[in-house]
Amino acid sequence: MSTCAALRIMPDTENYLDIQGGASLAGEVVISGSKNACLPILAATLLAKGTSHIENVPKLKDVYTLADVLRSLGAKVKWTGDSSLSVDTSDVSCLEPDPELVKKMRASVLVMGPLFARFGQAMIPLPGGCSLGKRPIDLHLTGMQMLGGTVVEKPDSVMVKLSSGTRPVATNIKLHFPSVGATENIMMASALADGVTIIENAAREPEIIDLADFISEMGAKVLGAGDHTITVVGTETLRATGHRVIPDRIEAGTYLVAGAISGGKITLLDTRPDHMTTLLNQLASTGCKITTEPDRITIDAPDVIRPTDVRTLPYPGFPTDVQPQFMALMVKAAGESLFVEKIFERRFLAADDLIRMGADIRVLENCALINGGKRLTGCEVQATDIRAAAALMIAGIWAEGTTRLKGLEHFYRGYERPIEKLTGLGVKIKDASEKHSHSEVSS
Ligand code: EPZ
Repeated sequence: MSTCAALRIMPDTENYLDIQGGASLAGEVVISGSKNACLPILAATLLAKGTSHIENVPKLKDVYTLADVLRSLGAKVKWTGDSSLSVDTSDVSCLEPDPELVKKMRASVLVMGPLFARFGQAMIPLPGGCSLGKRPIDLHLTGMQMLGGTVVEKPDSVMVKLSSGTRPVATNIKLHFPSVGATENIMMASALADGVTIIENAAREPEIIDLADFISEMGAKVLGAGDHTITVVGTETLRATGHRVIPDRIEAGTYLVAGAISGGKITLLDTRPDHMTTLLNQLASTGCKITTEPDRITIDAPDVIRPTDVRTLPYPGFPTDVQPQFMALMVKAAGESLFVEKIFERRFLAADDLIRMGADIRVLENCALINGGKRLTGCEVQATDIRAAAALMIAGIWAEGTTRLKGLEHFYRGYERPIEKLTGLGVKIKDASEKHSHSEVSS
């Protein structure tokens, strides 16, 4: 398959973290911009011709990958400050992101809606499954079809093309599942549609609201984001604009759980407790003392953690992206806790390595029973996805001895400067890797 720009992927080398267990976390940590908010917003810059300025963008591998995807389509993307990106889409001409990049990161599928809406066509290499499960894109494709697209599926890619006219056709779309990505792609595509599109059973995550705010700033009218039904009043052209990305609620949840397992007291700055109500309540039920102000959260953890059951649900339910980390905390809890994972088919992958560290966890399909209270022993463990890496790091904070976390590339995909932030909180952690992979577009 021809691509629009040659890519040179630097080889990954063997890399791992060594975490010395036993630290009690203390101090403050500044939360970065949301990975899962900035990825769709960066994709949405394709909806307009010109230069958009996005602030509070976390420097992590998934953002680098999406920047490479935009470059492979002809956009000019550059860092204009510590956490600000400018994206000039004036010369975007390619309608097919590089397959190597799409395979690296499923969120690359988010360029489908914008390319389809602005250029009438998009050829998307199929992102394929990952460790979390099959992760199909049927809801995305159905949305494009209902907006006037024809979908042609090939063995390893899918073409979405406007059947007639030059703009998507506004319509009513009811999702059978509140898919985050499908809601985002449909919202983006309908922003250039001729008329009003209603999205029912839409995802309600804060990242959906942030994208809706960005699309509104570009000139469309988006109402109801964050609720079950979103109304998008499309317009013929949108304008490049500026936007500041919301804080990352999943990064925040990860550090709160790390503080909880350590029995310490830490404060998160530049965060949004109002995006994390369910998680904060669940942490409080384990005996942690949580105090909040509009942009900060303090957690003061007891030595003895109470067990609590977890069922992951679409927002505002318990976030699946903090489920593995919370499982590590329940390994410390004195008693049994039952986890039910309702979002992904395979999101208990950290359990195998937690068991190798000494945890008593029994997994049956989408349920896991954790019999907590047993001290873990550090050993070599292998991360399989971003949040499993975080879970094993958290277990290593509590385990006796040293935990060697391999598969570090997963950790750097989803977290900005994690070693610096964890060290600042008192975690004894060393990055023993030689170098990290980073794709570079050859000039
Ligand atoms: C987003 O993924 C997040 N990624 C995920 O975070 C997060 O876990 C997920 O939402 C759920 O909250 C980004 O925002 C970049 P979905 P997404 O579409 O959009 C099924 C992380 O660690 N489904 O809501 O892919 C799907 O298989 C990542 O930061 C279909 O069946 O999630 C899954 O079981 C991991 N057909 C469920 O819906 C579709 O067309 C949820 O998927 C689309 C999804």
